[in-house]
Amino acid sequence: MTSTLVTGIAELVTNDPAVGDGSPLGVLRGAAVVAEDGRVRWTGPAAAAPAADRRVDVGGRAVVPGFVDSHSHLVFAGDRAAEFAARMAGQPYDGGGIATTVAATRRAGAAELGGLAAARVAEMRAQGTTTVEVKSGYGLTVEHEVASLTAAAAVTSETTFLGAHVVPPGAAREEYLALVTGEMLRACAPLARWIDVFCEPGSARAFDGDEARAVLTAGRAAGLGLRVHGNQLGPGPGVQLAVELGAASVDHCTHLSDADVAALADGDTVATLLPGVEFATRSPYPDGRGLLDAGVTVALATDCNPGTCYSSSMPLMIALAVREMHLTPAEALWAATAGGARALRRTDVGTLAVGARADLAVLAAPSSVHLAYRPGVPIASALEL
Ligand code: NIG
Ligand code: FE
Repeated sequence: MTSTLVTGIAELVTNDPAVGDGSPLGVLRGAAVVAEDGRVRWTGPAAAAPAADRRVDVGGRAVVPGFVDSHSHLVFAGDRAAEFAARMAGQPYDGGGIATTVAATRRAGAAELGGLAAARVAEMRAQGTTTVEVKSGYGLTVEHEVASLTAAAAVTSETTFLGAHVVPPGAAREEYLALVTGEMLRACAPLARWIDVFCEPGSARAFDGDEARAVLTAGRAAGLGLRVHGNQLGPGPGVQLAVELGAASVDHCTHLSDADVAALADGDTVATLLPGVEFATRSPYPDGRGLLDAGVTVALATDCNPGTCYSSSMPLMIALAVREMHLTPAEALWAATAGGARALRRTDVGTLAVGARADLAVLAAPSSVHLAYRPGVPIASALEL
């Protein structure tokens, strides 16, 4: 197998606290990386780098672990630009627009859905994302959820069955729940690693705590790992349910009680914050600073979807987390890489420790602080060796 030596790295963020400056980011300056067989084989000072078959000189740029976007909805057709414009003119977000995307997604064929998902993943890679989780949830029939997960599985191994996104238009709640926990789950489980549920008791078509529990326990019995959309639009049971059931992550976490924060701090569930949603729905941001100060493990993700955040940019999420949720640039970068990996229960991504996947993001900048310092400037791109 060919080995590659990457040189010219002004600043290397490894996320390995055992190397470099002793911080959680494990920063090395004037560094080099050797990759072989898709894995990191060596990191250290450039002067001490071992020989390799080929060399890539990044010319004084910073290198960080490729971003781990642990929450996205990339399988959909159509867009909701008009809904966004109306929201910016004062309309609130209530999830009602999901039906618009469900209709467009059902009309699209399998080839179109696959092409749309692949194009969105390419857009993410061009901005430094090397691992992405992709949910279904805009099909909401057995046939269309299977088609959505088939498209997702073609672009990632981190596939999530979100049949319990909303009760679809025209369906009765109890029958739909029986379908999601029965026939639809049986058809979709072989295509998915995870199951997710939109737990939002205040929303007419999403699911309350008891319904979400039924979805998650059925998913677990089918061999799937657990994820939850919780506490997005208002307070609710989602966070505590996720922690109680040992979900890998509970996502949004916009409206948290002290008890929710305490449960997250004591539990094993990552709090994944999606600040692009607050940006695009003009909502108050989650208390990212408070979660970190309470000892909660925090991840950042895009939630890329046509309703609440049609952005695929992890650098934008980092900038928003720093500006709006008072994370330091270092904390935000960790959350967008190592935090995302924790949210997916992965140890081979989100780090450039020896043995990890050689998934790099190269920054057209001398330090990773520029991710937040230069918002909107496309400085990051993926380099997978
Ligand atoms: O994560 N909250 C539920 N689902 C998506 C948005 C879906 C949509 O509006 O299309 C989310 O924000
Ligand atoms: Fe989402």
